[in-house]
Amino acid sequence: MSLTPRILTQIAGTYGTPTYVYDLDRIKERYHYFQEAFPWPELTICYAMKANYNPSVLKTLHSLGAFIDAVSPGDLYMASACGFDISRIIYTANNMKDSEVDEVMKTGVLMNIGSLSRLGKYAVQYPGTRLCLRFNPDVVDGEHDKIKTGGDLTKFGILLEDLDKVLKIIKKYGLKIIGLHEHTGSGLIKPDSITNAMKNIMSVATKHNFPDLEFLDFGGGFKVPYGPDETETDYKRMGQDIIALFSDFCDAYGKKLGLYFEPGKFLTATAGCLLVEVNTIKTNRKKIICGTDSGFPQLIRPMFYDAYHRIENVSNPKDKKMEYDICGNICETGDLFAKSRKISRIREGDLLSINDAGAYGYAMGGVYNLRPMPAEVVIENGRVRLSRRRQTSQALVRSILKESTEGFSDPFNTPLDETGVQA
Ligand code: LLP
Repeated sequence: MSLTPRILTQIAGTYGTPTYVYDLDRIKERYHYFQEAFPWPELTICYAMKANYNPSVLKTLHSLGAFIDAVSPGDLYMASACGFDISRIIYTANNMKDSEVDEVMKTGVLMNIGSLSRLGKYAVQYPGTRLCLRFNPDVVDGEHDKIKTGGDLTKFGILLEDLDKVLKIIKKYGLKIIGLHEHTGSGLIKPDSITNAMKNIMSVATKHNFPDLEFLDFGGGFKVPYGPDETETDYKRMGQDIIALFSDFCDAYGKKLGLYFEPGKFLTATAGCLLVEVNTIKTNRKKIICGTDSGFPQLIRPMFYDAYHRIENVSNPKDKKMEYDICGNICETGDLFAKSRKISRIREGDLLSINDAGAYGYAMGGVYNLRPMPAEVVIENGRVRLSRRRQTSQALVRSILKESTEGFSDPFNTPLDETGVQA
C-alpha cells in the first residue's frame, strides 16, 4: 500500500485538507486479482462507476480493459469522456423516464431493463433492438439493510415469476435478449448468496432458450473488509465454485456464454482514503471530541449505513491509544466519522486518514452547509499528482448564483479560470 504516513503528510502539505487520495496501482492490483479469481475466457469486468467516478480512476480501469456499469446519463457521458466506447457500457438505470431512455438510446448503449412497465414502453418505442433484462434474484443479502437489493420489497429487477409476461412482450416486438442480469446487494455476507442468485438467473435462461443470449451478468457486491475484525474473503476459492457452476451451466445450455460481474467496492474501496485535519479537541464531560475539517457530506457512509472506516493518526501513529468521537464540521449531531474509537493520541493540527474510502466516498458527496468538496489526488507508480482541484467556497457560491434565476449580481471580484476554480 503506497498510502504511507510520509506520502500522506506530503500530500496534505502540498494540496491541503480535506483531500481524497486514490492509489491507482492498488486499483490495478485489485482488477488483476479479480481476473485471476474468476478465470473464465469470456470474463467481463463491468466497473460500477457509481462507486467512484473520478476520471483518473475511470481512465485507469479503461486502460485495463474494463467495461462500465452506468446508471445515469451523467455516468454515460463521463465514461465516454474517459475513453470508454459505447460498446463497453451497460446502462442499468432505475425508474427512467421516457426522455432519459430516448436520450441514452441515441448513444447506442445497451439498455438493461428491470421492470415490466419499462419493458412494455421500450418495446413499443424500440422494437427489434438488442437488450439486457434485469431480474430480481430473489436472494436477500448485503452488509446493511439499505443496500440489500434482491428479494421482496425492493424496487429492483423483474420478478422471476413474471417471466411469461416478459416473453410475451419480447415475442410481440421481436426484442433480442443478449444478456440476463441480476444484482443481489452490496457487501454480500452469506457464503451462498452469489451462487444462489446465479442459479435463479440461470433457471430463467433454461426455461426459455433465448436464441440471441450472449452473456449472464451477476452484478457486484463483493465484500471488502472494513471493520477491525473483518478479513478478506478468499475470492480465489469462491471463484472456483462460481466458475464450476457457470461452466456446467454453459455445457448444459449448449453455448459458452460471457460471464459478467459489476464490482464497485471490490476495485476501489481499499484504494482510497480521506485525509482530514484536526482543528478542535474538546471534552464533553468524559468524552473527548475531535473536530476535523471534513464532514458527512464528504463521506456519508458512517452516518448513513453506520459503516466502520478505520482511522489512523498519520501525524502521531505510535502514541498511547485514547478514545475519541471523530466529528466533522457540519451543523448536525450525527456528523461523526467514528464514535468512541480508540486512536493514537490526537492533537490539534494532526492529520487523520479515514481509510477504505475509495468507494462511495466522494461519489456520494454533496455540498451541504455550502462546504465545497475535497480535492482528489492520485498516486501511480509511486508518483503523486492532483486529479481534481478543490473548489473554493467563493467559486461554489458563484456557480450557484450563475444558475440562479433570481438575477443576483456576482459579489466577488476574484476572477475564476475556465474550470470554475478561483484563479
Ligand atoms: N451493479 C449494480 C446493479 C448495483 O446496483 C451496484 C451497487 C453494483 C453493481 C456495485 O456494487 P458493489 O460491488 O460496489 O457492492 N453506497 C453503498 C453501496 C450501494 C451500492 C449500490 N449498487 C455503500 O457505500 O456501501
